[in-house]
Amino acid sequence: MSGFDLLIKNGTVANASDVARCDVGIRGGRVVALAEDLGTDASEVIDAAGLYVLPGGIDSHVHLSQPSGPGIVMADDFASGTRSAAIGGNTLVLPFCLQQKGQSLREALNAYHALAEGNCHVDVSFHLIVSDPTESVLGQELPALIDDGYTSFKVFMTYEDLRLTDLEILKVMEVARQTGALVMIHAENYDAIRFLTERLEREGRTAPRHHATSRPIAVEREATHRAISLAQITDVPLMVVHVSNGEALDEIRRGRRAGLKILSETCPQYLTLTADDLDGLNMEGAKYVCSPPPRDVASQKECWQGIEDGAFDVFSSDHCPFRYDDAAGKLTPRGRTSFRWIPNGIPGIAARLPILFSEGVVKGRISLQRFVALTSTNHARIYGLHPRKGTIAIGSDADIALWDPARRLTLTHDLLHDGCDYTPYEGMQITGWPVMTLVRGQIVMREGEMVGTRPLGGYVSRGFSEYVGGPKGPAPLG
Ligand code: URP
Ligand code: ZN
Ligand code: ZN
Repeated sequence: MSGFDLLIKNGTVANASDVARCDVGIRGGRVVALAEDLGTDASEVIDAAGLYVLPGGIDSHVHLSQPSGPGIVMADDFASGTRSAAIGGNTLVLPFCLQQKGQSLREALNAYHALAEGNCHVDVSFHLIVSDPTESVLGQELPALIDDGYTSFKVFMTYEDLRLTDLEILKVMEVARQTGALVMIHAENYDAIRFLTERLEREGRTAPRHHATSRPIAVEREATHRAISLAQITDVPLMVVHVSNGEALDEIRRGRRAGLKILSETCPQYLTLTADDLDGLNMEGAKYVCSPPPRDVASQKECWQGIEDGAFDVFSSDHCPFRYDDAAGKLTPRGRTSFRWIPNGIPGIAARLPILFSEGVVKGRISLQRFVALTSTNHARIYGLHPRKGTIAIGSDADIALWDPARRLTLTHDLLHDGCDYTPYEGMQITGWPVMTLVRGQIVMREGEMVGTRPLGGYVSRGFSEYVGGPKGPAPLG
C-alpha cells in the first residue's frame, strides 16, 4: 500500500479515554494508522509538535437559518454558521430543523436540506423540533423520519408558538419509546413566564434586564422536574438542554439516582455570563437575552461543579445568533417596547471550545480527556454518530482540530467569522486556540482563515443514540 494522503506528525493525540504522543495517518478521509512514528511517506505532512491533536468539536445544539418570527432574521445561514464553526475547531454541527405550526415535518426538512446543500464548511446533521404533534405527525411522519436517521428531536415547554402541553409531550415521548429516538427538552414553565411577564409589563419594567426577572430559576427547576417525571411515566431517556443552574441540575441528579436515564447539557453563557450583563445601558442588554437567562455567580459555580463531576454530559453553544444593531435582530422596534419581543438567543459557535479549554483545562478544573468528552465524543455517542465521529481511532472519519494549548489572545468578534455583529464574550482572555481544522482529512481552516474554494461539509445520517439503544415498544403497565 502506498503512503498516506496526509500525515500528522509529532502531536499529542487526545481522545476521551486517553492521551498519547503519536502520529496520525489519514487516507481516503479516514484515520488509517496511529503509531509512535509513521515515517514521512505521505502526500502532505503536518508537523504538530507542541500541538494537541483532538477529535474535531461536535456542537449538538446550534440554530442556523431558523425561522424566528415576523421581521426577525437569524444572523447565520449554513455558510456563515459552519464557517464560524470551523474557525472554532468544530467539524460537525447539529442544527435544529423547526416544524412550524401547520407544517409537515417532511416539508420543513426538505426546505432545511435545500438551505444546507452545498453551503456547509463542516459536516451537519439535523435534529427535529416538533411543534405541531398532530395525529399524522405522531402516527406516521415522525416514526418514518426517525427510521430515516433523524433520531433526535427537541420539544419546548415554553415559547408561544412552540410549547407543547404535558399531554402532547407524553405523546411524543411515547413515539420516542416505540421508535428509539432521543427526546431533547427545553424546560421552562410557559405559564409562569407569561404570568411574570404580564406583571412586569403592567409595572413598566420592560427593559432587557427583566427578561431574566421574568424567568427565575424556579421556572426552570419546576419544568425540569416535570419533564423528568413525564420521561419516567413514559419510560424514555431524556436530554435536558441548556441547563443554567444548580437547582435544575439537582433535579437531574435526583432523576439519575432514581435510575432514570437523564442526560444534560450546559453552555458557555451559564459559565461566564450573569443576569447583570442584561443590564447594559439603553438596549445593550439585549445582546445577552437568551433562554434560560444567564443567572448569577453562584449558579456559574454550580454549573462548573456539574462540568467537573460528570453531571453534565455535553457542552454545546446553543448558538442562536441575531445581529445587535439591526431592526431584524436584537434592536427590533418591538423589542424597545418590552423585553418580551427581543429575539432570544446569543452566538457562540466559534467561542465554545476556546472558552471551555481556557477556563476548564488551562485553569485545572477538568482534564484534557474530559474536555474532549464534553465537546466531541459524548455528542457523537449520544446522537448516534460514534465511532465514525467524535474520536481519533482507526476507521473513524479524520475530523480533527489541531490545538495550540499555549496560544494567548483576547477574544474579539472579528476572530470568529460569523454573521453576527458582536460576541457576548468580547474581551475574554483566552489561553489555547484551534490552529487547524480538518474535515474528513481535508484542511478547511488554517490559522484563523478558511482554506479551499468550496464548502465540503456534507449531511450525515445518524444511527440510534447509545443511550437509548433502539426501539422498545410501549412501556409495560405497572
Ligand atoms: O435563547 C435561546 N436559547 N434561544 C435558542 C432557542 C432555544 O431555546 O434553544
Ligand atoms: Zn431551547
Ligand atoms: Zn437552542
